Amino acid sequence: MTTTAVAHPNIALIKYWGKQALPGNIPATPSLSITLDTLSSTTTVSDSATDRIVLDGREVDDPKIRACLTLLRGAFDIPPLEIVSENNFPTAAGLASSASGFAALVTAVNAHCGLKMSEPERSVYARRASGSAARSIYGGFVGLAGPDWIAEPLLTAEAWPLNVVIAITDVERKAVSSSAGMHASEETSPYYEPWVRTTADDYLAARSAVTDRDFAALGELAELSCLKMHGVMQSSRPAMIYWRPATIACMHAVRALRADGVDVFFTIDAGPQVKAVCLPESLDVVAARLAELPGVLTTHAVGLGDGARLVTP
Ligand code: PMV
Repeated sequence: MTTTAVAHPNIALIKYWGKQALPGNIPATPSLSITLDTLSSTTTVSDSATDRIVLDGREVDDPKIRACLTLLRGAFDIPPLEIVSENNFPTAAGLASSASGFAALVTAVNAHCGLKMSEPERSVYARRASGSAARSIYGGFVGLAGPDWIAEPLLTAEAWPLNVVIAITDVERKAVSSSAGMHASEETSPYYEPWVRTTADDYLAARSAVTDRDFAALGELAELSCLKMHGVMQSSRPAMIYWRPATIACMHAVRALRADGVDVFFTIDAGPQVKAVCLPESLDVVAARLAELPGVLTTHAVGLGDGARLVTP
């Protein structure tokens, strides 16, 4: 018997960067994200003589997946498993493959082993594996905040169907993991403390913008959060400079479009790709403008999608 689950990456509009000095992989900042459609991690779990992990066709010894299984086995009786996971987009290049991967893994193991976990419980196990994965349990607009740090669905994808143009500027795997990068920022960035202190207000304001479907307000807060986070990254030792020339060209193009009246804003995670969030009526002009920029390798136009779920054979 095999069990298959699918989950989508999510993109934070209010970013999580930094962890609290507590067990359980607790973020230092609240975050608010949108779950995408089209891009997905598909994870199939089956019984096996020993644990086996196959990622994108290659058998791997992935310490984060092993740690996730160990954590689940601390609470549940889980036999040895074969885990086969495929991403239909580049792994570890700032497209949140860990978010969709762990949301799909926890959802598949939950069903395969009859663990009967609720969505909030799955969100906690996904978060412990990768902070942003907590949010991919749900679709649409999702919040992740204290005191419990369980993801919370804020608005469905259908209620406010935004589009996202992803501009790929580099497909190499990132050199520094998010956890190592966050640790460097916590220890060394002079901007880390104000980043943590001010993100709580950004989060509350962004929640209101989502509830009110106020695109301009959400865009202003999202660009602010993105640039603040990159300011922290760039002021850490060693400095994390994720941007390529094309990343910066995309930011300027988005701002120029907005000056021309197009409803669009950008966000960038721990990688060189730019995600331009827009209203459906602006999708064609945004996609065309980013695609023509030198250094933009490809663009993907996506919508907002659903949370992690089982795939029925
Ligand atoms: O989920 P992690 O531990 O890989 O960290 C994600 C960090 C960012 O993508 C940069 C921001 C976020 O909130 O997703």
